Amino acid sequence: MERNLIGIRHLERDDIEDLIALSADFKLRVLEDRPLPVLSKKVVGMLFFENSTRTRVSFEQAAHYLGLKTANFTAGSSSMSKGETLKDTILTLRYERLNALVIRHRLSGAPSLAARHFGGPVVNAGDGQHEHPTQALGDALTILERKGSIEGLRVAIVGDVEHSRVARSNAWLLSKLGAEVRFVGPRTLIPPHAMMLPGKVFYDLATGIEGADVIITLRLQKERMAEGLLSSIGEYAAMYQVNRETMRFASPSVLVMHPGPLNRGVEVDDVAADGERSAITSQIENGIFVRMAAFAWTFGEDATAKAKPLSKKA
Ligand code: NCD
Repeated sequence: MERNLIGIRHLERDDIEDLIALSADFKLRVLEDRPLPVLSKKVVGMLFFENSTRTRVSFEQAAHYLGLKTANFTAGSSSMSKGETLKDTILTLRYERLNALVIRHRLSGAPSLAARHFGGPVVNAGDGQHEHPTQALGDALTILERKGSIEGLRVAIVGDVEHSRVARSNAWLLSKLGAEVRFVGPRTLIPPHAMMLPGKVFYDLATGIEGADVIITLRLQKERMAEGLLSSIGEYAAMYQVNRETMRFASPSVLVMHPGPLNRGVEVDDVAADGERSAITSQIENGIFVRMAAFAWTFGEDATAKAKPLSKKA
């Protein structure tokens, strides 16, 4: 059965665990050069309407490992620059017989709209301030590898929560798997509806990250910010930077994460980003395996079943 991967919020815990187990299994197979399911007859449309480095390349790498072909697409080089709507663009891609779509868009909800009009699986690669499900799944795999379990961990998500789809997907996922989630940041960067999200809000860094097992730092998304949300970048860094000094408030074995791209010297210093407590490079690498899992899972049971025997649930 084909399905979509639009967000974490409406996934069952079982689905999340299947996706993570499948990612771990794909990782082992790639590292040990063992056989992978081959989806070579399928073509995936890669619709990146917003800029991307790691998400885009890891979807490409994931497709490559599974033998999928990709058709690349950007708004500027397509008929959308002539005024074609997203709906008509999606319908065109459907009748061009593409088998699946990966879509990143500045508008929250664009992947759901695409799913309504496209006849195959749609994977959300980040929509506006809504969700970024594959980032959260990769982050969960990284935490599991380093910490052994997610249940009972204290995870502080620090920074520009307001503009971050990564914060939302991670909060849903980690809380569903039993972590204590905290949002930490200045009042102007914590969404007014934060009480509807599964986490407790802290406006003070030291209290918010106290005893944290994991700190997920977030980029200040200046391109999405209205004027005047921050008095200055320097003041933000002085109050909220995760660095050699402030990391001491967290657990001594804290894991420092960041989805990238980093503003070095703003939300993190070099010690937090590159030191032994950092998991940032693992997050990048795990992005590949989680996106392989996203393809197999959305294409349905055949591809998944072939990968399953080696996963921990088998
Ligand atoms: C993030 C995104 O685009 O949502 N990056 C990513 O995909 N790894 C975060 C950001 O842009 O700051």
